Amino acid sequence: MAKKEQLVTGVDIGSAAVKVCKLQKTGKGYTIMALGSAALPEGSVEDGVLQEPEEVGKTIATLFSNLKIKNSKVGISISGYSVIVKKINLEVMEEEDLAEYITSEAEQYIPFDIDEVYLDFQDLKTNGEHGERTDVMLVAAKKDVIDDYLDMLQEQKLKPVLVDVDGFALENIWETATGSSDNVALIDIGASKMNINILCDGASVLARDVVVGSDQLTEQLANALDVDFEEAEKIKLGLIPVEEQQKEVEEIFNQTCTQWVLEMKKAIDLYMANHPDKPLSRLVLSGGGSKVNGLLSFIEQETGLEVISFNPFQHMNFNRKKIDPDYIEAIAPEMAIAAGLAIRPADF
Ligand SMILES: Nc1ncnc2c1ncn2[C@@H]1O[C@H](COP(=O)(O)OP(=O)(O)OP(=O)(O)O)[C@@H](O)[C@H]1O
Ligand SMILES: [Mg+2]
Repeated sequence: MAKKEQLVTGVDIGSAAVKVCKLQKTGKGYTIMALGSAALPEGSVEDGVLQEPEEVGKTIATLFSNLKIKNSKVGISISGYSVIVKKINLEVMEEEDLAEYITSEAEQYIPFDIDEVYLDFQDLKTNGEHGERTDVMLVAAKKDVIDDYLDMLQEQKLKPVLVDVDGFALENIWETATGSSDNVALIDIGASKMNINILCDGASVLARDVVVGSDQLTEQLANALDVDFEEAEKIKLGLIPVEEQQKEVEEIFNQTCTQWVLEMKKAIDLYMANHPDKPLSRLVLSGGGSKVNGLLSFIEQETGLEVISFNPFQHMNFNRKKIDPDYIEAIAPEMAIAAGLAIRPADF
């Protein structure tokens, strides 16, 4: 019997929660082996930077142990100020020459000191058969920020074998889970940021991080209702009822969601200006923040586009005795990036 291809365990370390996803390749599809999320102490990850490695390490170790994950090869992803993704247009070169060129010339494309970053690149081969120029995706990530993550994982006896970028992981799982090459906007709303990635003809043409997210709602509720962050979070999730202040709460949701939609519209308008003949077919939402009640229909109203909530597990198999289907359904949106990491091979 052929040996099953090993996949990495996806670990998405967000600012609010760590999400873990372990998949197995089965035939043409995937089987969910383990899935879970654990909240992180406030402030332990900020702007994509690990502030409290011990706290985060402990949270991850407990989650792995609860999920009984033995395979310790993991893949993580990064985002925020410490990583820069840039598409550059270059003369067509052999892989080796390209590597040399990037190493010596990267400085002119990125605003970091070249000795302080890890560089990676991919020739997107947009030159066609006879073209002389091609697009190259350049990724530069701050070494100290990445090393902090790698050290923290190794401290927990985990083997990090892959460092991806949030937006790439999301794009990968969207394409893998749906097989779709429609023109869509992938929008992940987390606790502290919103990532917008517009795909056209199967490639990312506009990607940006905006500093808005679900924490905003919690903070505004805390201020308006004069309660602490924890209580405000429960009010936000509807776990504590609000009676007299219902109107105030609704107003905060309205204002914040309106701001989110404005950011989406800005990106869509920019895309449409550059691709007037390639309309978007849908907006695809993920991230915990996308679970705000009524958000989907609000965005549909405001943009006139169809909006769906992304469930990367829709066509995956799983053991119903081990994993509750309702749990998968509920947690699917914020699991998208972890799932995108979990489809990557671990044969390093
Ligand atoms: N039903 C809901 N309504 C509003 N917010 C929600 C809901 N469910 C979860 N959230 C919020 O989603 C956030 C967690 O989502 P997610 O795990 O995607 O964030 P994260 O990845 O940790 O953050 P980031 O990517 O911004 O660093 C929390 O702020 C949580 O309060
Ligand atoms: Mg996130």
